[in-house]
Amino acid sequence: MPEQIEKIRQQALSDIGRCRSEKELENVRHKYLGRQDGQLTAILRQVSRLPEDQRQATGSLANRTRAEVEQAWQKKKAGIVNAGATQAGYFDITVPGTKPATGHLHPLTRIRLEVQEIFKSMGFMVQEGNELTDLYYNFLSLNFPENHPAMDSYDTFFIKEDPKQKIELEKRQVMRAHTSNMQVRIMEKNKPPLKVIVPGRCFRNEATDASHDHTFHQIEGFVVDENISIANLVYTQKVLLSKIFGQEVKVRLRPGYFPFVEPGFELDCSCIICGGQGCSVCKRTGWVELIPCGMIHPKVLESAGYPQGKYTGFAFGMGWSRLAMMKYEIDDIRLFMGGDLRFLQQF
Ligand code: DAH
Repeated sequence: MPEQIEKIRQQALSDIGRCRSEKELENVRHKYLGRQDGQLTAILRQVSRLPEDQRQATGSLANRTRAEVEQAWQKKKAGIVNAGATQAGYFDITVPGTKPATGHLHPLTRIRLEVQEIFKSMGFMVQEGNELTDLYYNFLSLNFPENHPAMDSYDTFFIKEDPKQKIELEKRQVMRAHTSNMQVRIMEKNKPPLKVIVPGRCFRNEATDASHDHTFHQIEGFVVDENISIANLVYTQKVLLSKIFGQEVKVRLRPGYFPFVEPGFELDCSCIICGGQGCSVCKRTGWVELIPCGMIHPKVLESAGYPQGKYTGFAFGMGWSRLAMMKYEIDDIRLFMGGDLRFLQQF
């Protein structure tokens, strides 16, 4: 009988090894381990009828063989089930997953939200404005005389017009060259006291380089009330810049020319990179030119329809892109609108 058991063992193991499906495996189980006609089951049944001296040895051989076949069968079954499951999309929840990519804010949006919060805390309202505007709001209402050479420096994009239609100069459609285009529009609709910022995109027909792009971002701001002075202007800018850069900064004013302010200034900020010692960013001067500004020209208040001499105000036009470049140490303005994910993913 031991030879017979050995023969069944070999046969069973080889049959199991050849199985390719669960169905085939079930048949093999039936053939060797089945309760009714399984070959090993039959052997075990016969053991009890063996003479006493053979019974124990044969019985334990038959039991060991049965256990071995059972184990091989289970192993094969697990292999077939797993292979099928993988094909069917089964996944192991204990395997570390792939992190889904989450979106994040564009660096310009981050700066805008920060600037807005600071201004809101000082009582300013935030207004978005028209990107498509006309020559009146972009220039003429802001005390640019018709054909004034200052308009040339803005390299404005004009909207193509039908040459047969005669359009008044004021009404000619342009893409705004600065967010100052919202000054008079907002003043017309609101009475002082007025504290507003206008973050927005501007467009100029520029030859692009590391610090110029045809599409760029500015934040215009203005305050109109009785008795507004240059001191209010300086204080507001100092608070803003200190908060943005997270450190106390110094500011200074130099004369600057813009038709819509009188006096007009260039506001410089002590260089945050070198702390005012002089470096390549501040061109060794310790100061960075950051915010053109000034006291609103009486002609602009007149365009808004405010009573003559009643109000004064200050205005400023921050280079929002510039501010982001300073804060995040970005050396090329074109990166903002270039759509290069390698750049954007760093924020
Ligand atoms: N709009 C000007 C520009 O784009 C910047 C500017 C200068 C805005 C002085 C102001 C200001 O409000 O007072 O060049």
